Amino acid sequence: MNRWTPTLTFITVAAASLPALAQDAAAGKARAEAVCSACHGLNGVSVSDTIPNLAGQKAAYLQAQLRALKDGTRKNAIMNAIATQLAPEDIANVAAYFSSLPGASVASAKSELLPNLVKTSAVLPEGYPAGFTMYTTVNRPDINQVRYLYANDVALKAAREGRPLPDGSVLVLEQHAAKLGADRKPVVGSDGYYEKDRFLAYAIMGRGPGWGKDIPEILRNEDWNYSVYTPEKKLRAGVNQGECLACHKPLDRVSYTFSLGALTAKAKAN
Ligand code: HEC
Ligand code: HEC
Repeated sequence: MNRWTPTLTFITVAAASLPALAQDAAAGKARAEAVCSACHGLNGVSVSDTIPNLAGQKAAYLQAQLRALKDGTRKNAIMNAIATQLAPEDIANVAAYFSSLPGASVASAKSELLPNLVKTSAVLPEGYPAGFTMYTTVNRPDINQVRYLYANDVALKAAREGRPLPDGSVLVLEQHAAKLGADRKPVVGSDGYYEKDRFLAYAIMGRGPGWGKDIPEILRNEDWNYSVYTPEKKLRAGVNQGECLACHKPLDRVSYTFSLGALTAKAKAN
């Protein structure tokens, strides 16, 4: 007997024992409508230049990518958070749905953002930064930014008491472009943080009663909403809250924040 036979037998058996998933494009459409359309468009033509179109893509390819995004072998913070919430049959269904759609007619075609993910109740409070405490600074070498994080008193008090951040909490992340040296690398100050150059934006998360009710469960962060304000303190239009929600979604045990540890340390030191 050829020495490869046992291996081949094993592969054949393994493939045959994979559960045969019935593909249900109608169920896939319902899922796509509620969630995927926030970024990929209901017709599979995406809402922005940084998000791929899915319309007309091969179903087997879509399934393979979703499995890799689910198990983390393909890395993308937004899609990892979404794919981990999809059951194997969801993956088969959405792949069947998107592969059944005609591709974009022109490369520049874009879908509209979903109204429930554009609408936001998170605001930069009047008079900011009055009533806020800066609790940490973050260097971002990947995008040459330095970020200052601020919390209002409601958030600070809850963190001090070890409670989840409640309704009325507001966190503000100030984004600054780092000053670049002659070597095009950020200039580091004596405190170890990048020196700031141009102010870019305020990224805000706030929580209030019922604020999450129109957001699909796969994206929802309880009652947190997100927004972006310009350096002139005006609400920036056309921000897709779906991206904010997806990336912060896995942090459900720390009030959806990346920085609860730093906030708690600052609150206790005050
Ligand atoms: C909040 C925005 C957002 C939502 C909602 C979203 N996606 Fe994505 N998706 C992305 C981004 C961004 C990428 C690009 C990932 C990368 O660069 O690796 C992506 C990539 C993918 C890919 C890989 C495509 C390729 O060409 O390799 C698949 C498949 C996919 N998404 C399926 C889905 C499905 C199915 C849903 C709904 C259950 C969904 N996505 C919801 C943002 C989103
Ligand atoms: C790709 C993942 C990702 C996306 C998308 C994202 N964030 Fe974050 N966010 C982070 C990380 C990581 C931090 C921690 C600070 C840092 O590393 O810059 C953070 C921190 C924050 C904070 C400070 C509180 C905290 O969680 O620690 C706010 C406020 C915030 N983000 C708002 C937003 C808003 C508004 C959006 C959408 C416009 C958004 N984020 C989209 C990853 C993301």
